[in-house]
Amino acid sequence: MSEPQPSVPAGEDEFITVAKLGDLAEGEGRTVEVGNRLVALFLHQGQHLAIDDFCPHQGASLGAGCLDEEGAVACPWHGWRFRMTDGTWCDNPRIGVDRFAVRIAGDEVQVSRQPIPPSDESPGPA
Ligand code: FES
Repeated sequence: MSEPQPSVPAGEDEFITVAKLGDLAEGEGRTVEVGNRLVALFLHQGQHLAIDDFCPHQGASLGAGCLDEEGAVACPWHGWRFRMTDGTWCDNPRIGVDRFAVRIAGDEVQVSRQPIPPSDESPGPA
């Protein structure tokens, strides 16, 4: 029986610095590179949230989308909306994108390389 392979190579930090505190204005987003993934990072109500950047409809960049007051980002191409807190599609929560834990270290915004599937309810770090 084989051991499951860790998705982060030994010796590499799970979290990657992607921005500085203050780089994003409230409601603003951007696409950042986290290992081999592109991640949509937004600032919502003072909290940095991160989901997969790739829209499952036709592949637009969700980091270029617009965030609403409820914390859902609308895809810039056709308007599918995804909740930043859990990555689920607002119209059908059985569909969604991965989300990523975010932590603040000093003045750095760091995103985990480990994706969390949209159906996984486990909390990220505080
Ligand atoms: S590509 Fe995102 S809604 Fe169509």
